[in-house]
Amino acid sequence: MTENWTPRSWRSKPASQIPNYPDSQKALAVEAQLHRYPPLVFPDEARELKQKLADVAEGKAFLLQGGDCAESFAEHDAGTIHDFFCLFLQMAVVLTFAATKPVVKVGRIAGQFAKPRSSGMEVQDGVELLSYRGDIINGIEFNEVSRIPDPERMAMVYRQSAATLNLLRAFAQGGYANLENVHKWMLGFIRNNPQGEHYETLVRRISETIEFMRAIGVTAESYSALRETSFFTSHEALLLGYEEAMTRIDSITGSWYATSGHMLWIGDRTRQSDHAHVEYCRGIKNPIGLKCGPSLKPDELLKLIDILNPKNELGRLTLIARFGFDKVEEYLPPLIRAVEYEGRKVIWSCDPMHGNTITENTYKTRPFNRILSEVESFFNIHQTEGTHPGGIHIEMTGKNVTECTGGAHAISAEDLSDRYYTHCDPRLNADQALELAFLVSALLKRDRAS
Ligand code: TRP
Ligand code: MN
Repeated sequence: MTENWTPRSWRSKPASQIPNYPDSQKALAVEAQLHRYPPLVFPDEARELKQKLADVAEGKAFLLQGGDCAESFAEHDAGTIHDFFCLFLQMAVVLTFAATKPVVKVGRIAGQFAKPRSSGMEVQDGVELLSYRGDIINGIEFNEVSRIPDPERMAMVYRQSAATLNLLRAFAQGGYANLENVHKWMLGFIRNNPQGEHYETLVRRISETIEFMRAIGVTAESYSALRETSFFTSHEALLLGYEEAMTRIDSITGSWYATSGHMLWIGDRTRQSDHAHVEYCRGIKNPIGLKCGPSLKPDELLKLIDILNPKNELGRLTLIARFGFDKVEEYLPPLIRAVEYEGRKVIWSCDPMHGNTITENTYKTRPFNRILSEVESFFNIHQTEGTHPGGIHIEMTGKNVTECTGGAHAISAEDLSDRYYTHCDPRLNADQALELAFLVSALLKRDRAS
């Protein structure tokens, strides 16, 4: 790995999960066009995120990362973004209150469009077509034309991401995220359930504190920390042609940055140390995530850490553990011990979604109690090992969907068909996500007490 890195050096490495465009000239033309478009995020912002993640690595802050499994062109409207952001703020405020530490807010949004698939082909009723790989690559409709990879989709993703980011920035910095609005973030359908009451109680305590602070002269008008929040974006660095086109040199530091999002992660299927995705990610200076599943051996992990974070910088690397509720106890401790033994600075985050997917009534789903169970084990393991449970990484939506079973409303296998809208994996609905935030709060309080 001493070879020179360039934004296109990944092209000489084996690359899985990347489509073959039938019209390769068009792909090059779209990539060239994207290369001239303005960056979606700025290197300064990516550095600010890295700084905040450095605090997470030291146990002084907590990372909340979440959003759709896959964004889609169909679900692109102000209401969806609003409801997502609203839920995210609720979760963040619940966690901040419990942890008494800053919560670093990172959405899986404004760029999360490419999906790795276990098989290149999909068969339905005896007909075999290319698998759907996310709206940035092809269409989800099961017909031959829609499944052909179309480079023009990259430009559509760029525009949708820009519009999404524009609204998110307005929400985060334009007054909506003001803590004085904490009671307004409640989504209608949550109001009348157990999570809603739980939240109301918390809101009353926060509002009282804010009134007290106002009385002593600490107001949202004079303190931007009360009025605004920092919200960052992230997605899987999968479609490297798109990422390459959005990679820019930062004029201040002379370093390369991905400008398609603040944080990029490497998937569990594309983390081979000598392959293209690791090659691309090693050269950009953004904070990087690495998904860690059951097949990852401790020595492979150390090798990947060497490549991705050779200077052992705080905040550079987030290890996102996704083992499954029944495997995390077996696989996570050896990885933690290897990292600790070698003195590597990483953030440990828990993805309790991807190791807990099952099929019920022909629907891909995730039982909520298994998700809770993996999170709980993750916290227990870190307590035993004396390391920091740095954050959670979840698939969620502000919409009232029925994609994961269980939760306070006890969604059953039969209920799944009611509102099952995801383009890929099942997401927590707003209720379930808030319930999870309260569970994590309890675990954070326990850690504070011990
Ligand atoms: N600026 C602080 C932060 O982002 C406090 C804050 C303002 C906040 N609005 C918020 C916290 C909304 C959570 C949710 O943490
Ligand atoms: Mn997913």
